[in-house]
Amino acid sequence: MPQRWAPDSWRSRPAKQLPEYPDPAALARVERQLATFPPLVFAGEARSLKRALGRVAAGNAFLLQGGDCAESFAEHGADNIRDFFRVFLQMAVVLTYAAASPVVKLGRIAGEFAKPRSSPTETRDGKELPSYRGDIINDIEFTAEARTPDPHRQLEAYRQCAATLNLLRAFAQGGYANLGSVHQWMLGSIKDSPQSRRYLELANRISEALGFMRACGLDLESHPELKTTDFYTSHEGLLLPYEQALTRVDSTSGDWYCTSGHLLWIGDRTRQADGAHVEFCRGIKNPLGLKCGPSLKPEELIRLIDILNPDNEPGRLTLICRFGAEKLGEHLPALLRAVKREGKVVVWSCDPMHGNTIISASGYKTRPFDLILQEVKSFFAAHAAEGTYAGGVHLEMTGQDVTECTGGARAITDAELNDRYHTFCDPRLNAEQSIDLAFLLAELLKTERTAQHKPLPAAAAL
Ligand code: PEP
Ligand code: CO
Repeated sequence: MPQRWAPDSWRSRPAKQLPEYPDPAALARVERQLATFPPLVFAGEARSLKRALGRVAAGNAFLLQGGDCAESFAEHGADNIRDFFRVFLQMAVVLTYAAASPVVKLGRIAGEFAKPRSSPTETRDGKELPSYRGDIINDIEFTAEARTPDPHRQLEAYRQCAATLNLLRAFAQGGYANLGSVHQWMLGSIKDSPQSRRYLELANRISEALGFMRACGLDLESHPELKTTDFYTSHEGLLLPYEQALTRVDSTSGDWYCTSGHLLWIGDRTRQADGAHVEFCRGIKNPLGLKCGPSLKPEELIRLIDILNPDNEPGRLTLICRFGAEKLGEHLPALLRAVKREGKVVVWSCDPMHGNTIISASGYKTRPFDLILQEVKSFFAAHAAEGTYAGGVHLEMTGQDVTECTGGARAITDAELNDRYHTFCDPRLNAEQSIDLAFLLAELLKTERTAQHKPLPAAAAL
């Protein structure tokens, strides 16, 4: 018999990774204020995303989820958002066209502020201070004042999310995402690279196809799906006081939705079945993600699925696997088999970033591009072996020309990491590396879908 759920029922459960605010009264005031603010996203949008993810679970679409590891107050600007959106659209169009698959577009954006940390404190030159936990909690500067959690930062994060969402909505719906603009999405910073040439070829083919359709008499202007796109937002549902304050009853369905983003995921460090984060997420009706790392046992996963998706609703739950290229083979097949055996409907997504983080010789946290590719390939291979769908990817990426992950077509070396290492948390793929990966994904996806899709029945083929 499931226990009663309420937006605050998580408070009686053990909670990992939450900051300790020195002034609880100030926190309570911020929570009360946030609770009066307008929702950032709407329940109907979260339901459309859930339906779209249901199609991914059935193998009829592919999920592309990506964005910064941590958004920051300092780098909040229109150019950054536009460049991210452009690369994201380029990747989506590569996948849609080359793999002939609809793509569900889900940003790690407009809310990805709170970070779980492996250690509560950081020591530099003998001085120990609280770890940086993301701009919504404290400041990255290494001083006692900056690192003290300040609840007022939640208000600033909320305002930033609203402004980011406003721009994203304009880009997605206001004509920028028009397929006819497929050439304009090209970023100046990646011109003259092999990726840009490959992308240009594809863009030319798309323009040709549109021209052909026009010549056949199709009025492309009357097809909104060619002129606009559905773009959704997601973040880790880590900072529960903030998430609770934005959780509201949807007037049309009477259900609770967390209105801080369309999809919330539970991190690998906070997925305890009896913990606060699982308790909070089980009661909201948004689609959910669950990070699955090497320590997750098949029986634990099944228990979590039962808690988070008791009705086995398609699109409700996306399992985001982050094992590391070398460990995937040891862990993923057992999870795939258990989920299949129990008849659970899930989206399987691959996060090839978080299990492949290393400290380089020069002291930077980095990720070798080769390991990222290898994890993605092994993910598809494991699904092919089990007869399940590799449904999506979850990436840390940016539209900027950063040097944070080593390797890729430009073969960024350890010594070059220092050139443009800008991330506030984990290393991201830069624009070129992201597009490179999209082409590889398109090939893998095409092979998977051709091998697994049953031929059309004779009548339908006519
Ligand atoms: C993240 O997605 O930034 C993250 C911290 O992931 P994980 O919970 O998988 O470590
Ligand atoms: Co990260």
